[in-house]
Amino acid sequence: MLLLLLFRKQKALIMNEKIYPQIKTFMPRQRRLTGSRLNAFDQLWGTYGLAALSGTIDFSKTFGRNAPTVLEIGFGTGETLHEMAKNHPEWNFIGIEVYRPGVAALLAKLRVEPTGNIRIFAEDANMVIQKCIPDNSLEKILVFFPDPWPKRRHFKRRIINENFIKLIQHKLKAQGILHIATDWEDYAMHTLAVMQNQPSFVNLADNNQFVLRPNYRPLTKFEQRGLKRGHQIFDLMFQKISD
Ligand SMILES: C[S@@+](CC[C@H](N)C(=O)[O-])C[C@H]1O[C@@H](n2cnc3c(N)ncnc32)[C@H](O)[C@@H]1O
Repeated sequence: MLLLLLFRKQKALIMNEKIYPQIKTFMPRQRRLTGSRLNAFDQLWGTYGLAALSGTIDFSKTFGRNAPTVLEIGFGTGETLHEMAKNHPEWNFIGIEVYRPGVAALLAKLRVEPTGNIRIFAEDANMVIQKCIPDNSLEKILVFFPDPWPKRRHFKRRIINENFIKLIQHKLKAQGILHIATDWEDYAMHTLAVMQNQPSFVNLADNNQFVLRPNYRPLTKFEQRGLKRGHQIFDLMFQKISD
């Protein structure tokens, strides 16, 4: 037993997992890339792709300019990210999505409508944020329709949790915004409960609960699925008030 514990500790140190969580917040569902998505990856990853291995990124070098930078976590197939980047050329956008076919779908859109203000990571957001995003650098962090993990035994997989908030808190600039949207009432309540214990953030909603969808957020693919099922949509917005 002791040996096993020592082995696990050693492995965690080697993989740096002591710092970012081993519990995954996503389903392990990779599909082989084929056809136009594979081509999009081959042709465009060099232009838009970033790798966690390269370490902390310098936004002004990466985007070739100084501009407010927005991070979207779990962009799925990227329609929303692409739309926001087209609508807001004055902002830089970094997207993180672990599901490669989703990343390839965004690259395929970028092939049709190139948008210079997007860069993409295709890895676990918890690791990318820790290794690559400078402190006090982000204007907004967006988490739209995170995997709901509705079963109690899976709650530990929800990306919104106290460790995640502590991690992103240092990455947001002063007055930076964390914006979460979900169609799961239970997830909305879970988020409120997590954020109530975070003195570094204030809820921007008048009733201390939910805000109306702001203009910059297009309807997302998962949101449309939720709406078809009759789900209500909850937007939650928190501002960082201290480190
Ligand atoms: C329910 S989908 C929502 C996709 C999109 N935001 C939308 O609203 O259509 C959640 C996405 O988050 C991604 N995801 C979950 N945990 C992640 C992590 N730790 N790092 C990167 N992506 C993650 C999943 O792969 C999935 O594509």
